[in-house]
Amino acid sequence: QDARIARIAAAIRVIPNFPKPGIMFQDITTLLLDTRAFRDTIDLFVERYKDRDISVVAGIEARGFIFGPPVALAIGAKFVPLRKPNKLPGEVISEEYSLEYGKDKMEMHVGAVQAGERALVIDDLIATGGTLCAAISLLERVGVHVVECACVIELPELKGRERLEDKPLFVLVDAA
Ligand code: PRP
Ligand code: MG
Repeated sequence: QDARIARIAAAIRVIPNFPKPGIMFQDITTLLLDTRAFRDTIDLFVERYKDRDISVVAGIEARGFIFGPPVALAIGAKFVPLRKPNKLPGEVISEEYSLEYGKDKMEMHVGAVQAGERALVIDDLIATGGTLCAAISLLERVGVHVVECACVIELPELKGRERLEDKPLFVLVDAA
C-alpha cells in the first residue's frame, strides 16, 4: 500500500510558477505516463469503493474525466460527467460556485441520476474545495447520496477538507 502511494507521489510532476507566479502546479500527465502508477491509482480507488454499493461515479471536468471512468467500469457503476457550462446538449441542472477570481458553473444532465442513488465524486485534486462542494450540492439537489469524494492529490494548506464539512474525503497523496 505505502509502496503504491510512494510510486504515485513520485510520478506526479510539480511545475513551479504555472499558470501564474507562485503556483506550484501538480501535473498528473506524468502519472498517466507511468503505467504502473496509473494502474495503482485506479486500483486503490477500486479496492476502496467496490463493495460500497455505489451506482454512480460523477467525474468533474476536465481531469476527473481521466480517473473517474476506469473506476466506474471496475466497480460496475455508471459514469456521469459534471461539465463546465454550455457543454452538455440536453436539459441541465447547474450550480454556480466561486473561484479564486470570479465565478464558474458546473452542469449535469437532467435524468442522468435518480433520487436515492449512491454516488462517488472523483476529481484529480482538491485545493480550496469549491469545486467538490459544487459537485456535492448538484447531486444532493436531485436527491442523490454522495457517499464520498475521492481525489488523487490534496493541497492541505488550502483547507478544502474543512469546506466539505462532514462529507468524507479520500485522497492518495498530500502535496505539502
Ligand atoms: C482544478 C482541479 C480541480 C479544481 C480544484 O481544475 O482539477 O478540479 O481545480 O480546485 P478547488 O478545490 O479550489 O475548487 P481546474 O478548474 O483548474 O480545471 P481542469 O480540471 O479543467 O483543468
Ligand atoms: Mg479540475
